[in-house]
Amino acid sequence: MRIVLVGPPGAGKGTQAEVLTKNLSIPHISTGDLFRANISQGTDLGKQAKAYMDAGDLVPDEVTIGMAEDRMDAPDAAEGFLLDGFPRNEHQAQALDAYLAGHGLALDGVLDLEVPEDEVVKRIAGRRVCRNNSAHVFHVEYKKPQAEGVCDVCGGELYQRSDDAEDKVRNRLDVYHRETEPIIDYYKRQNLVVTISALGSVEEVTARAMAALKDRRTDGAA
Ligand code: AP5
Ligand code: MG
Repeated sequence: MRIVLVGPPGAGKGTQAEVLTKNLSIPHISTGDLFRANISQGTDLGKQAKAYMDAGDLVPDEVTIGMAEDRMDAPDAAEGFLLDGFPRNEHQAQALDAYLAGHGLALDGVLDLEVPEDEVVKRIAGRRVCRNNSAHVFHVEYKKPQAEGVCDVCGGELYQRSDDAEDKVRNRLDVYHRETEPIIDYYKRQNLVVTISALGSVEEVTARAMAALKDRRTDGAA
């Protein structure tokens, strides 16, 4: 199955992606996590991305699209994937369509997580992520790690993302409305969008997402 997850910063994309990809046995491809891994490894790609991410701006398409395509080319993505945070503007959506068409593939669905802005702000303010892997996501109130400051998954140190500061969050939300929201209409024109409420517990949202995705399945796989 090939799915795009879309929603504002802090909607719970990464949190849901971790569970959904386990349920569906497909890899979780998060361009944000890929950039953060490159930054912590000190790669050239990480150096190019860092200033944009720190400001809450989009990393240029020339860098982002190639990185996403390389990841989709990996053997573990041959049978499907869940894209989290990509595409993030109409140009990236067109590039993804061209990539898929070039491989004789298509998306099964675009899952749009809807959540009010005041909830997003609460979720981001309390978020802590793992230094070893930013896909390991916690919340000081809503998803507490077993031991404070320590990742349940790998024992890594939990920290607050530098782009989670209030002024950066405001810019990320502006960028989302301006650049990313239009791709929902782009995909609506392809009849791919299912919108669900991302309010409620993580488990409630997962149940809603799984029910919505069940109806989108076109590849006949389990
Ligand atoms: P990215 O890492 O993708 O950040 P984002 O889109 O801003 O989304 P977040 O990761 O902040 O939120 P999320 O929806 O994943 O929420 P989470 O599950 O963590 O991108 C970062 C930056 O990288 C961008 O600003 C840009 O610079 C660059 N970038 C990335 N992709 C790019 C692209 N394609 N093009 C250009 N630039 C790109 O949940 C948030 C918190 O809420 C957590 O603490 C969680 O525990 C909690 N939570 C989750 N669900 C619930 C629930 N149901 N109830 C209560 N709490 C919950
Ligand atoms: Mg995320």
